[in-house]
Amino acid sequence: MIDAKKRDKNAVIDTHKYNKVKIDKSLRGRKYFVRTYGCQMNEHDGEKIKGILESEGLIETENIEEARVVILNTCAIRENAHDKVFGYLGLVKKLKETNNILLGICGCMAQEESVIDLIRDKYPYVDFVFGTHNIDDMIKVINESVKTNKQTIEVYSILGNICEGIPEKKDSNISAWVDIMLGCDKFCTYCIVPYTRGTQRSRKYEDVIEEVISLKEKGYKEVTLLGQNVNAYGKDLYKDYNLANLLRDVSKTGIERIRFVTSHPWDFTDEMIDAIAQCPNVMPYIHLPLQSGSNRILKLMNRSYTKEEYLTLYKKMRDKIKNVTITTDIIVGFPGETEEDFNETLNVVNECKFDGAYTFIFSPRVGTPAAKLKDETPLREKEERLYKLNEIVNKYSNESNQRLVGTVQKCLVTGISEKDSSKYCGYTETMKLVNILSDEDITGKIVDVKIDEAKSFSLNGIKI
Ligand code: 5AD
Ligand code: SF4
Repeated sequence: MIDAKKRDKNAVIDTHKYNKVKIDKSLRGRKYFVRTYGCQMNEHDGEKIKGILESEGLIETENIEEARVVILNTCAIRENAHDKVFGYLGLVKKLKETNNILLGICGCMAQEESVIDLIRDKYPYVDFVFGTHNIDDMIKVINESVKTNKQTIEVYSILGNICEGIPEKKDSNISAWVDIMLGCDKFCTYCIVPYTRGTQRSRKYEDVIEEVISLKEKGYKEVTLLGQNVNAYGKDLYKDYNLANLLRDVSKTGIERIRFVTSHPWDFTDEMIDAIAQCPNVMPYIHLPLQSGSNRILKLMNRSYTKEEYLTLYKKMRDKIKNVTITTDIIVGFPGETEEDFNETLNVVNECKFDGAYTFIFSPRVGTPAAKLKDETPLREKEERLYKLNEIVNKYSNESNQRLVGTVQKCLVTGISEKDSSKYCGYTETMKLVNILSDEDITGKIVDVKIDEAKSFSLNGIKI
């Protein structure tokens, strides 16, 4: 982790094609179970892990008791993400007493030195570990573990590379994730991601566009361009090609819906706002993490913008992009956050009236600068701040939903509603979840829906 901070910005990133390795024949035709925690990036990695296993003849099961290979694709963003994985490991340990299970751990936790030490010392029943940088080596690692019958750990602490052509088993045949960049170079002081996912590296735009064209040909209606800081797309690769260019080029493919996550206020240019506003198939939805409304805390977080700059950008987006929806992330209880700092966050929330917000209590991550800062605020006080913030945040997201009652929204229908199997579910252009009543099967279609009810986190409507 210390080395990660001394990254060589001019280092050459290794880009290579996926190199197929045959899996040990004892595993061919057997069942596998993958459990993924965390963000969309990890979800997408999960699709690659499944894709590789299926290309070696393994079959997915959702019942862990049937599985020969079990893989936990982990998240490291907050302590509770760790806790969930360690909790689940206990369960798999028990199962291993009766079932012949080959157990693996990958994802962001696998990139943490402290976790690797712990797995070596205290979790001998974990059979193999690989990191976020070497998913393409998974079969090699599995084979090694089968052959030696020993715990096999292969985790790189390199800058990261790009592997093109990894097979994927997509979770949906309607909406697809497309990586546009990997890693992050922002080094916000609270965040573990620059360490677990390596340096920022953009995929070539030709590769991205080719992938979108092929997804469109397969019938996909929507792509979500993925990266930790998509606004910095291209900076490491091109002089004059950025996210605005990419959005316009992806727009030209004619795919019906284009989304992108996650944005950083620092790199969000007017050119990008114009591209979103002008391309009809780029959806008017932006996730723009604020983190804090106090300039003092933003500086301690190394966020490189002030609250005033954030507000200027926010207003520009609202002015220029018709009917845009903007959501955010906020951390409360960062070390040294006073009641006054917290109130400044509330003021910004009251000014922005976000359509939605994900809120978190600061969680110290081993090896990050913020974990070393003095933190005297008791947890109870942080919890009270979170509660207060959530009340305000929920009020605005509710109002944002209420405004849609009586309107007609274009929804991309993704399947049957999880809450009510007599309904379909889909998303508005602005990324609001709608439970839809319809006589005909509308799965995979973009349909007009009359919104008749708003809840805090979803809408109800009828297909017209
Ligand atoms: N503690 C709490 N929240 C965090 N996030 C990132 N790191 C931490 C941490 N150490 C939040 C940020 C980020 C979101 C994905 O998770 O708000 O935007
Ligand atoms: Fe995703 Fe961040 Fe969790 Fe890694 S640590 S899985 S990048 S949310």
